[in-house]
Amino acid sequence: MASVTVNGLVKRYGHLEVLKDITLDVRDGEFVALVGPSGCGKSTLLRILAGLDASSEGRIAIGGRDVGHVHPKDRDIAMVFQSYALYPHMTVAENLGFALKLAGVSKEVISQKVSRAAEILHLETLLARYPRELSGGQRQRVAMGRAIVRDPKVFLFDEPLSNLDAKLRVVMRAEIKELQQRLKATAVYVTHDQIEAMTMADRIVVMNGGKIEQFATPLELYDRPANIFVASFIGSPQMNLVAASISSDGLKISTTHMLPPNKHAHQVSEGDYVVGIRPEDITLSDTQGIPVRVTVVEPTGSHTMVHGRTETGDLMLASLPGRVDVRPGEQRCFAIDFAKVHLFHADSGSAVSPLAA
Ligand SMILES: Nc1ncnc2c1ncn2[C@@H]1O[C@H](COP(=O)(O)OP(=O)(O)OP(=O)(O)O)[C@@H](O)[C@H]1O
Ligand SMILES: [Mg+2]
Repeated sequence: MASVTVNGLVKRYGHLEVLKDITLDVRDGEFVALVGPSGCGKSTLLRILAGLDASSEGRIAIGGRDVGHVHPKDRDIAMVFQSYALYPHMTVAENLGFALKLAGVSKEVISQKVSRAAEILHLETLLARYPRELSGGQRQRVAMGRAIVRDPKVFLFDEPLSNLDAKLRVVMRAEIKELQQRLKATAVYVTHDQIEAMTMADRIVVMNGGKIEQFATPLELYDRPANIFVASFIGSPQMNLVAASISSDGLKISTTHMLPPNKHAHQVSEGDYVVGIRPEDITLSDTQGIPVRVTVVEPTGSHTMVHGRTETGDLMLASLPGRVDVRPGEQRCFAIDFAKVHLFHADSGSAVSPLAA
């Protein structure tokens, strides 16, 4: 197994810089997820790690070895893509063994490795079938099996589950995680789905516009987002972000709601801020908190989502446990647990240390 170290990586297409000074350290056996909006450079970074694309600047080491001039097939890396493109005219067993056959591996060894991969992925009974005779999840398992037979040091995944339906995705993400732990493999996993990233990864890289916004454990990202981008990207439903200002009177949220100055455990200079409040950190009150007019109520069974509009027109969402007696049109207050309020500089978007430290 191996660590992956990326140092000062830059990728340009003509004048367009799609990766800007990426520095990253994935530990041996670690599962790291790459998340970020479409076009932020996730696949580009992965392809450069695999050696399928060249970087413009910077260095990459796998297992401590600089791989700048190492051919993709000699990097001990296996990549699993979103479109798994199995060979339609080959059986599952042939698909699994094909790369080894090309590499001139003996029939006996291929057969051993294919059996082992089939066992790991519960494909034993499907080895004689053709891809068209498999379900989406089974095909995805075969694609994973093709990676496993090569005994790679590092697995690279580019949205491997995005073609599957929601239910199967949940099953497969647990399987991939279990597999990675069993093989003690290092994994870099690209996904659009922040829940997938949160549940699978040891650490998550949040990318935006070719840069790393934050690299931290799932709960660090959730509890201490470094900036507004990360705060709004991680967490579902999304964190409420409301304009606020600090004066000698205290913190004013949405122009009406005051949080007295003694609530700030540390000194924050006067000025404009953005307050971040997670929907699950809000409770409903008749008198305390930010006054809202309820616009939409969504019962999900376990929770009730209550949308409200503040007096200044900001939309806010509260996620309340259980069932709540509230109707659209009613005037209520969203009470805030001050200890859980996030504060960001309005100009830079970067986080001020937690309000109630
Ligand atoms: N061969 C290329 N030539 C020019 N620009 C490219 C090329 N490949 C990618 N890009 C650009 O690089 C940027 C990053 O693309 P990339 O595929 O890495 O994004 P991504 O984060 O994987 O997005 P998605 O989530 O949509 O898959 C995009 O703006 C894309 O248009
Ligand atoms: Mg991509």
